[in-house]
Amino acid sequence: MTPEQIHRLGMPYYSTKEKGTGLGMMVVFNIIKSMNGKIDIKSEQGKGSCFSIYFPLKNERN
Ligand SMILES: Nc1ncnc2c1ncn2[C@@H]1O[C@H](COP(=O)(O)OP(=O)(O)O)[C@@H](O)[C@H]1O
Ligand SMILES: [Mg+2]
Repeated sequence: MTPEQIHRLGMPYYSTKEKGTGLGMMVVFNIIKSMNGKIDIKSEQGKGSCFSIYFPLKNERN
């Protein structure tokens, strides 16, 4: 992904597919956020991407 693509990932209706909805990543980002998690994205354009997802041991809501 380009830096621009990484930046827009998770925004509603952002899709690079011809018939994409751009909703899948938005839902994923919202679930991670609701659990106070964080995401690190490392990507090499045309090669692949690595998503690291972190969650706190104890959630504020528990
Ligand atoms: N597994 C994946 N592999 C490569 N790119 C992806 C993947 N998941 C999402 N993306 C990128 O993020 C964009 C948004 O994804 P998503 O929110 O799931 O919407 P959609 O799948 O409808 O395009 C995709 O259009 C694509 O560019
Ligand atoms: Mg998708």
